[in-house]
Amino acid sequence: MMDQAEKLRQIIDNLKLRQSANSTNVLNDARNKSAKVITVTSGKGGVGKTNIAINMAIALSEMGKRVTIMDADLGLANIDVLLGIIPKYTLVDVIYNNKNIIEVLSDGPKNIKFVAGGSGIEELTKLDSYQLQKFVSNIALLDKMSDVILIDTGAGLSDSVMSFVMAADEVILVATPEPTSITDAYAMIKMVSNRDTNKTVRLIVNRAESINEANDIINKLTVVTEKFLKLKLLPLGYILQDDMVLKAVKMQQPFSVIYPKTIASKHIKEISKKLLEFKETGKATENQGIKGFVGRLINIING
Ligand SMILES: Nc1ncnc2c1ncn2[C@@H]1O[C@H](COP(=O)(O)OP(=O)(O)O)[C@@H](O)[C@H]1O
Ligand SMILES: [Mg+2]
Repeated sequence: MMDQAEKLRQIIDNLKLRQSANSTNVLNDARNKSAKVITVTSGKGGVGKTNIAINMAIALSEMGKRVTIMDADLGLANIDVLLGIIPKYTLVDVIYNNKNIIEVLSDGPKNIKFVAGGSGIEELTKLDSYQLQKFVSNIALLDKMSDVILIDTGAGLSDSVMSFVMAADEVILVATPEPTSITDAYAMIKMVSNRDTNKTVRLIVNRAESINEANDIINKLTVVTEKFLKLKLLPLGYILQDDMVLKAVKMQQPFSVIYPKTIASKHIKEISKKLLEFKETGKATENQGIKGFVGRLINIING
C-alpha cells in the first residue's frame, strides 16, 4: 500500500521527468528517446527468467539506466512475489478502468519500476481501434520515463510468448545445462529464425556448475545455430549455480540486493554491463520503444 508521502514523492518524480523531457540540455535530449524493449524468455520453464529480469533491472539501474519491468507471464505471473510487492493495479486497469499507466507502476528496489500485466495483454485483442489508440498513447508514457523495458514472459513456444518475443527490440534467451532446457532453447531459436532472421537474440546460460560448463553450452548452441539457421545467436554470458538465489527467493528479495557479493550478483552485473556495451552496435528496430512494441504485438496477435 502506498501512503500519502509516497504518493506525493511519486507525483514530484513524475513532474521532474516531465520537466527534463522539456529541457534542451543534451543529456535530457538523449533521455527523450524511446525505451529499448527487451523480452526475457526461455524454451523450458523454471530456468531463472524472472530472477534474471529483476536482478538485471537492478544492475542496469545501478549503472544509471531507468528501468521498468513488465510482467507478461500470463500463467504464473510472479515478479510481484519475488519482489514482495502487492501491486494495486494491473494493465487491465489501464485498458478498462481508465487508469493512467503511471498509476499502475509499482516501485521496486533501487528505483526500478514494475507493471503487473494481469490478463491485460490478452484483453488487448478484444479492443476496438479507438480503445487501442488510447491504450497505446497511454502506455507510450513508459518510453519517456524508461531507458530499458524488460518484459518477463512465461516459458515455451506458445503463441503468446512468441508474440512478445517477435515484437521486442531485442530478446534475451535463458537456458540451463539441463538437456531439455538446451533442446527447448534451440527450438525457440529456430522458431524465431523462421520468422525473422534479423532478430537480435542474446543467450544467457544460468545455473551452470562451472565456467567451463557454461561456455561449453554457449559454444554448442551458437555453433549449432550457425550451422543450421540463418539467425545469429549472440552470447551474453552466464550465471553460475548459487544457493543464495533460492535463499533470496524465499525471503522475497532480489538476490543482488540482499547478497550483493554473492557469485550470482557478480555475474548478473557482468552480463548487464555487457548488455549496455552492445547497445550501440545492435541494429535498431523500426519504431523502437514500448509504442512500437505494442503496435507490433497487436499486429501479430490479430494475425
Ligand atoms: N543461478 C541460480 N542458482 C541457483 N538457483 C537458481 C538460479 N537461478 C534460478 N534458480 C532457481 O530457480 C528457481 C526458478 O527461477 P525463476 O526466476 O522463477 O524461473 P522462471 O521465471 O524461468 O520460471 C528459483 O526460485 C531458484 O530457486
Ligand atoms: Mg518467471
